[in-house]
Amino acid sequence: MSWGKRADFVVRNESPFNAEPPLEALAGGAITTLDTFYCRNHGDIPDIPPQQWQLTIGGMVDTPLTLTYEQLTNRFSARSVVATLVCAGNRRAELLKVRPIPGKEPWAHSAVSTAEWYGARLADVLDAAGVHRKDGLHVAFNAPDVAPEAVPVQAYGSSIPLSKAVSEEVLLAWQMNSEPLPRIHGGPVRVIVPGYIGARSVKWVHTITVQSTPSENYFQALDYRILPPEADPATAAPGEGIPLSVVPLNCDIFYPGDGEAVPAGPLTIRGWAMAADGHDVARVDVSLDGGRTWRQADLAPVTSRWSWRLWSLTVDVLSAPMTVTVRAWDDTGVTQPESPASLWNPRGYGNNAWAHVDVNVTEH
Ligand code: MTE
Repeated sequence: MSWGKRADFVVRNESPFNAEPPLEALAGGAITTLDTFYCRNHGDIPDIPPQQWQLTIGGMVDTPLTLTYEQLTNRFSARSVVATLVCAGNRRAELLKVRPIPGKEPWAHSAVSTAEWYGARLADVLDAAGVHRKDGLHVAFNAPDVAPEAVPVQAYGSSIPLSKAVSEEVLLAWQMNSEPLPRIHGGPVRVIVPGYIGARSVKWVHTITVQSTPSENYFQALDYRILPPEADPATAAPGEGIPLSVVPLNCDIFYPGDGEAVPAGPLTIRGWAMAADGHDVARVDVSLDGGRTWRQADLAPVTSRWSWRLWSLTVDVLSAPMTVTVRAWDDTGVTQPESPASLWNPRGYGNNAWAHVDVNVTEH
């Protein structure tokens, strides 16, 4: 089943369905079209008609609640947030060149996409249940899809701190780019946690629990963690490693593609950049000499605090092999690490090293 995706999608795994669009397709605009948005799944895709969907909110709340689709979509005021989702494993292919990472999808550059999400604020739904507002609490999400890779096998789940859960950007979304949320992307309702790794934006969510500790689900307690380079993921205990939450500052090149031939003359280099935690991208630097000298790219206008920012730079290129290197800076003066080797970790997460492509410039 192709789930309404473009015919040229690069399928990393048929079952569960994991696929990324070709880079040229992703470069199509600030908002990714539904047929182009990447797909990341740990189990079979549930089929839940909106009339059958229910959400239970419990745990450290005064009045546990169960909401139907009708109640969620009518009782709470809805809002839109343009947000980029990025899988923690995006750009793993570059880490794989450093050392092997067995058993993980070799995502290239496109496990990242941007949509306009529409739904109720999670904060309002938690308030309706009388959430306990205490420091240090967590909000856990549970879904029905069963992940065969989890140890032990279990349904998908995850959690975020209550302090993030009550931020205005976090949604229970039922629309994506003004369409009913497609089944493959978590329809009828999913969580959207802008600024956090995609894994926390739980699809097909049916239970929300306010609790004093992070979720014990495999995907919170064991996977989606940065282990030290010498650790063995097969023997790591729950809670070991650094749990991933905020996506670090990153950038990538849409065009030209790695290994592409381009004609000598003016060349417009294009890509995206995104700062961590709702910060702004302050600058994008482009180097044609391996990082010795840098020019500044033109930044497209900001569409949302939670969205990638597109950039471009037109340069004149002579016929010869050439490497394009790109790095972004945020508004606090932070920039990206230089090499994937310095970031390598056993599960291959969080690669935000400088972006590179090798191109072959040819005579007209
Ligand atoms: N939610 C459920 N229920 N099951 C999943 O497998 N995958 C997570 C997250 N939410 C997942 C999930 C991961 S790892 C990512 S990156 C995003 O969904 C991907 O969302 P998308 O498939 O809509 O692009």
